[in-house]
Amino acid sequence: MDLKIKGKYALVTGGTHGIGKSIALALADEGCNVSVCSRNIERVKQTEKELKEKGVDVLALQADVTEKKDIDSVIEKIIAKWGTIHILINNVGGGGRWGEEIVEETDEEVWSEVYNKNVLSAVRFTTKVIPYLRQQKWGRVVTITSIFGREAGARPWFSMAKTAQTAFMKSLAKKPYLSQCNITFNSVAPGAIMIPDTGWEKELKENPAQVEDFIKQELPLGRFGVPDEIARVVVFICSQAAALLNGASIPVDGAQGRSMF
Ligand SMILES: NC(=O)c1ccc[n+]([C@@H]2O[C@H](COP(=O)([O-])OP(=O)(O)OC[C@H]3O[C@@H](n4cnc5c(N)ncnc54)[C@H](OP(=O)(O)O)[C@@H]3O)[C@@H](O)[C@H]2O)c1
Repeated sequence: MDLKIKGKYALVTGGTHGIGKSIALALADEGCNVSVCSRNIERVKQTEKELKEKGVDVLALQADVTEKKDIDSVIEKIIAKWGTIHILINNVGGGGRWGEEIVEETDEEVWSEVYNKNVLSAVRFTTKVIPYLRQQKWGRVVTITSIFGREAGARPWFSMAKTAQTAFMKSLAKKPYLSQCNITFNSVAPGAIMIPDTGWEKELKENPAQVEDFIKQELPLGRFGVPDEIARVVVFICSQAAALLNGASIPVDGAQGRSMF
């Protein structure tokens, strides 16, 4: 299936590890030129190398997306190099394991840091790219949320931030001045995804019996998801074929989530 996004310019925030890196590589597989940005320079360079091997143009940048000046600089560098941008993937996020089980013992900083990392970063990137999407009358914005942006989770600051991201995408999708420019805004809500060097892998090493129990009780497929299973859905949303898909929050979770919608 020709997804008709060959030659488009895409930015994947935090596209150097996990889900974001898989999305960056999957977009490059479709012929998109890809920019990624994250903090760890070794990861940035390694991802740049892997993307270039796919024969597309690449802009790999070091940036901390919790800093407004870094977001401004990423977009400036993309526009200086490419003149425009077509696809934005707001992937950076997290905080689902931050803070304490006893909510009132969680420092206020956790609430604001989780909000900043997930919501403000997505708002800043999105509002910065919209003028370019409008100008060319085409664009795709996909935000990576979580099943806990669709239902209650154990960490309220995380559920609130992911729900806010979902509401942000839906609200922009409802704006005729944007949708009539062929710009879509959707969110993709992963369930538990196994990623080397992050939460679930660490927990599996430290507490294998507890993770086995979690799999039995919470994951109907009997396994975790893998990043590429998220990436393939995201790439389809970015395609021409998905023009009518706007304002959706799509769970990609093997039916882990409990929401009916
Ligand atoms: N994994 C799951 O089970 C799961 C489930 C539901 C939702 N999600 C969501 O999926 C998204 C990706 O998560 P992931 O599990 O793939 O995470 P990951 O493997 O830890 O990758 C996160 C990526 O974002 C970058 N990053 C993190 N903080 C950053 C910052 N302040 N500035 C710039 N880049 C930053 C990281 O690079 P540096 O560290 O080098 O900056 C890395 O490239 C998040 O929004 C997360 O909430 C994940």
